[in-house]
Amino acid sequence: RPFRSIAIDGPSGAGKSTLAKALAARLGFLYVDTGAIYRTVGLYVARQGGDCGDPQQVLPRLPELQLSLTYGADGLQHMLLAGEDVTQAIRENQVSRYASQVSAYPAVRAFLLEMQRNLARTHDVIMDGRDIGTVVLPQADLKIFLTASVEERARRRCRELQPRGAQVDLATIQAEIAQRDYADSHRSAAPLRKAADAVVVDTSQMDREESLAALITLAKERL
Ligand code: C5P
Repeated sequence: RPFRSIAIDGPSGAGKSTLAKALAARLGFLYVDTGAIYRTVGLYVARQGGDCGDPQQVLPRLPELQLSLTYGADGLQHMLLAGEDVTQAIRENQVSRYASQVSAYPAVRAFLLEMQRNLARTHDVIMDGRDIGTVVLPQADLKIFLTASVEERARRRCRELQPRGAQVDLATIQAEIAQRDYADSHRSAAPLRKAADAVVVDTSQMDREESLAALITLAKERL
């Protein structure tokens, strides 16, 4: 039987990863967080002392990049850099910017494309990112464009960073998110945009349970 796939795209902080993870557990699908892959590339370049904003310092490093994606005993995705588990390290706030910078280079996107498609060839997947419905899995059985207002996404991001003892300022976080949204949706390589056949789910006024219920309903209708 062919494998099934659900594509979830949208801006950062809309709740993609939390919801996709919960939906994957519910359906028994593999959850693939593609942002984590771009974050790992950014982390690698930064650790090597490279400037992620300069393609000349990123592209020549791709051949040496030892990146792999594995699933732990916990069933969750782990990112490895030359065997080192960097799953936690890539969640640092500055790595979001590195990821956004490296993801704008077409050569980086092309380099990572097969890795993402291969997972969908061999598993039922829920994949989240920015271009899953438009580029990576244009044949996905269900495409969701998950979004929320920038204010609400900034509040959620602050709540997520605070317990980790990070210095957080709502206005700064909101400005960073708005800037990243702009960069992600205005770049020429695979910009963030809703696929023509994607269903829009706006979670601004929904809590986690309500959002998950909306996604489960869509999955039941389509799969
Ligand atoms: O989803 P997350 O916020 O972890 O992604 C980090 C960055 O990686 C995004 O801001 C975006 O620039 C980039 N990205 C992308 N395409 C994807 C997933 C993430 O360009 N499929």
